[in-house]
Amino acid sequence: MPVNTFIATAEAVSLTGAKPVFVDVNESDGLIDPKQVESQINSNTRGIIPVHLYGNICDMEKIAKISSRRGLEIILEDCAQAHGSELNGKRVPIGKIGSFSFYPGKSLGAIGDAGCIVCDDEELATIFKNYVDHGRKNGAKYVHDDVGFNFRMDEIQAAIIKIKIPYLSSWLNRKREIASVYDQRLEGVENIKPREGVKHSYHLYVVRSHRRDELQKHLKDREISTGIHYPVPLHLQPAYANLGYKQGDFPVAEKLSKEVLSLPIYPEMTAEQVSRVIEAVNEFNLKE
Ligand SMILES: Cc1ncc(COP(=O)(O)O)c(C=O)c1O
Repeated sequence: MPVNTFIATAEAVSLTGAKPVFVDVNESDGLIDPKQVESQINSNTRGIIPVHLYGNICDMEKIAKISSRRGLEIILEDCAQAHGSELNGKRVPIGKIGSFSFYPGKSLGAIGDAGCIVCDDEELATIFKNYVDHGRKNGAKYVHDDVGFNFRMDEIQAAIIKIKIPYLSSWLNRKREIASVYDQRLEGVENIKPREGVKHSYHLYVVRSHRRDELQKHLKDREISTGIHYPVPLHLQPAYANLGYKQGDFPVAEKLSKEVLSLPIYPEMTAEQVSRVIEAVNEFNLKE
């Protein structure tokens, strides 16, 4: 899995008792680098977990080739940030299984914690449904095929998601419009672009600057909030100190962690608000 992601991607592996193995990312887009995937595969490897970070989509063609050549599965695609992202007209997940987060800040957010797995395989879907419901045998109340969990989505969250789904496409289109204005008018920062064939969903609009911390302060002073995704790559997280990675192991992710900045982007943003962000970023770059 990529080292540039939210810790939840790795936690999902650790919580099964398996060991997450990290790989570096592409400098151009912060997504998992297929060449690095290949170099980390050994006889203990069970599968690959690509993360469609920011709403962009990983190079699934190369990753699928590697996984089939090496007899592995793409365990799932982490689509937590990629609701509605498309690759050549196909929505994520591109392969068999995708996991989504409906955390309130996501493009499709509940009013509390929620998420889902989607897959195109009836048998797997039944296993997932039973597992999140205490391993309960399909349709049975007190017969349990597996030791599972209570990961059921509560009905209030489900109702909110159901109400919001019809609006998702229009919200994503508005975010795409804002991103295109940013693309055209921002100066002095490098913007992370969609990969070829990708219709990005812009969960995050991420730029890079060598003076990222100063730029973030400059924007904060003007009451413009920004985020950093992510300031500490997974191999340097205290929680994963036991894996024995060290500073310098993943130079691209380490570099990006010091340069990336996520600018405000949400469907309700007005043209004036978008302009205010652009003017503030461009003003910073004139200050030099
Ligand atoms: C890439 C990624 N994976 C997984 C998650 C986990 O989602 P949740 O917080 O809903 O468990 C998130 C949420 O922030 C995420 O951004």
